[in-house]
Amino acid sequence: MQKAFEDNGRNLGYALLLKRYVDDPRQATPDQISKAAWDTVPGVAPMFWSFRIMVGLGFYFIAFMALMFILSARRMLDRYPILLRIAVLSIPLPWIAAEFGWVVAEFGRQPWMIEGMLPTAAGVSNLGASTVLMTICGFALIYTTLIIIEMGLMIGAIRKGPAPDTKPEAGLLEARLAPAE
Ligand code: HEM
Repeated sequence: MQKAFEDNGRNLGYALLLKRYVDDPRQATPDQISKAAWDTVPGVAPMFWSFRIMVGLGFYFIAFMALMFILSARRMLDRYPILLRIAVLSIPLPWIAAEFGWVVAEFGRQPWMIEGMLPTAAGVSNLGASTVLMTICGFALIYTTLIIIEMGLMIGAIRKGPAPDTKPEAGLLEARLAPAE
């Protein structure tokens, strides 16, 4: 039963792909079938590069974190200021890796929404472009407000600085660290 259901789903999926080339898929010529079949093969270059950039970044994160962990455990971080600069410059990279991962998943899935069953073209929402645009604008507005509030709070906290240490040892430590007169 399950198998028959899947087979029917697949036949329908491929018939929908054929409809790009012929109105009645039962009348399709071998050439049209071949064209529709080639439509199911995703472009190699974008997949190849997106995947490698994502994985390359993933291995870079692992290696860089291991290096920084070892240096930090040995209290040697301040010997290599260049690494601290690289760490700051690396902040946007996980986001870039995630975007390339998303390209791998979405681009590699084409032309299917459900592989072999539901072509993307057949699964397009019937919501109008203006409705989708309004939703995107709503999200953009909410998240922009949130980031402005968050940045305001963080800048406020940075300006205020850490709370003075009231423990008695703190004074002792400061006295010990102070240069001898
Ligand atoms: C260590 C190397 C990595 C490997 C081997 C790897 C592997 C993969 C694979 C095979 C997919 C496709 C999944 C699918 O079939 O849909 C994928 C998707 C994805 N990857 Fe990576 N990845 C790596 C590193 C990363 C890193 C470092 C990030 C982000 C910081 C990332 C973010 C993503 C995202 C967001 C997706 C899309 C998920 C989805 O929408 O279904 N990946 N990854």
